[in-house]
This record gives sequence, structure tokens and C-alpha cells, in this order.
Amino acid sequence: MATLVGGITSSHIPAVGIATTKRLFDDPYWKPFFDGYIPVREWMEKVKPDVIVSVYNDHGLNFFLDQVSTFAIGAAKQYDNADEGWGLKTMPPVPGDVELSWHIIETLNKDEFDITMCQEMKVDHGLVVPIQVIWPFADEWPVKVVPVAVNTVQHPVPSAKRCYDFGKSIGDAIRSYDEDIKVVAFGTGGMSHQLQGERAGFINKRFDLDFMKKIVDNPEELTKLTTTDLVREAGSEGVELIMWLTMRGALGGNVKQLHSNYHAPISNTGSGVLLLEPTD
Ligand code: DHB
Ligand code: FE
Repeated sequence: MATLVGGITSSHIPAVGIATTKRLFDDPYWKPFFDGYIPVREWMEKVKPDVIVSVYNDHGLNFFLDQVSTFAIGAAKQYDNADEGWGLKTMPPVPGDVELSWHIIETLNKDEFDITMCQEMKVDHGLVVPIQVIWPFADEWPVKVVPVAVNTVQHPVPSAKRCYDFGKSIGDAIRSYDEDIKVVAFGTGGMSHQLQGERAGFINKRFDLDFMKKIVDNPEELTKLTTTDLVREAGSEGVELIMWLTMRGALGGNVKQLHSNYHAPISNTGSGVLLLEPTD
């Protein structure tokens, strides 16, 4: 059977693409960010997962405002990175795992989640950047990826509680997949940031650090946050933190925190990374 070996949360800041391309790893601005991923990289090299199930949000690239899906799952052989650019080095398309995708879709359907099934799908920095930070020099993708896109762009977005429950079903799907593979779940986005309007540039370090603590020990508490709470405390784009809760729902029960790093600001964001291992 498949094993869900761990969970990773990460911001998905597009400027990281250009910093990686320019190899600014020791630049004083970027060092506290990139150093935060070293333990994650070492763990990934040790564990060697076969597939990443990545919960991220599309930023208007695959789904524009005319047609937005609340929950969408990719079921394609590969996904083109069609992001804006930002100096990203060109990588081959992201390889998919079609069979695992369909198993997850079937399980979600049994659990009464109505999702959009995408046999063609473009991906953006929400999916690509956290993986590129872990393997900055890779020319080939070292893993297959199942993209899970959660709407955070067009309101109403799904609630924190709904995302957590959705994640639980994804976790059950992974653990019941009849192939001997190792899977890591990613939740990308956040932390606090607002890219628009009067509060553009808003970052809430206190909220971010509290969220990072609770996502490990007390995620149920975070499911009580309403969308309005999230926007007020974390900013209009900080609502992306519902992806972290989706990933945490997939891990289930108790987890051990193997690594944590927070640094703000990076670009316009509080940047947080967590590496979690399920313990039951
Ligand atoms: C930034 C962060 C994001 O999550 C995003 O999607 C775009 C930009 C930023 O911090 O600049
Ligand atoms: Fe984003």
C-alpha cells in the first residue's frame, strides 16, 4: 500500500524563481529564506518520495474569473508550467501520476466531495516554486506530482473546516492506494500577505507564528477561523493558508514537527516552511 510519509507547508513566492536562477542563496536578503529549506531538502533526499500530492491555489492561470472551480484535481500525464515567468529557469513539464489521481478522485467522490477533474491542466508558481526550492539545480523532475487546486481567488472560497475535511479524504485516498509508493503531501501558499488595495504590503507575524504552532498541535482550532477572520488576520492573499489546513487534514491525527522556519518579509509575504511526519 502507499504510505503518506510526510507533509510540507511552504509559501510559493514567485520572486524565488528569479532568486534561484540568479543563485542568490547566500545573498543577505535571501539566505534566511533558502537556509530554511536545507533540512527539507536533506529529508527529501533521504526519504526519496515517489509522488508529491500538492495542494496549491491557481492564480488565474488555469482557472480565470469566468470559470473558477472550488476544488480541482489534475489527472494528466503531465502539466505545463505556464506561469508569468519571473526569470524562472525552463524545466520540462511536471510529470503526473494518472492512476493515483483517479484513485484520489474516486475516494473524494465516495466521500461526497464534488470536484472538477482535469485531464489537462496548466500549473503556476503555486505548485512549481516550492518544489524548485527543494531541487534548485534539477533539470528533471525527481518526483511525479498530483496537483490539487483550491480556489482562493474568487469569493466565496471554501472554509477552513471544509478544506480540512477535504484533506482528510485525500489522506484516506493516499493510504488506501494499492501501490507500494511513498507520497508526500504539500500545502503551499501564505503566509500573511496582501498584494492589493489599502492594506497592500500587510504582514502579520504574530498571526503567522501562532498559525504555524497550531497547525502542528491543534489544527482543529484553526478550522474555526472564518474566511473573514483569515482575510482580516492574514490579508486578502493570506487566505491561501487554507491549503496548509488541507495538507494537515491529509496527515490526520498526531504529527511530529521535524523542521520549522519563518522569515518575514520575503517579497510581500511572511514566508513559512514546516516539515511534518505523521505519528499515528
Ligand atoms: C507573492 C506571494 C504569493 O503567494 C503570490 O501568489 C504572488 C506573490 C509575493 O509575496 O510577492
Ligand atoms: Fe499565491
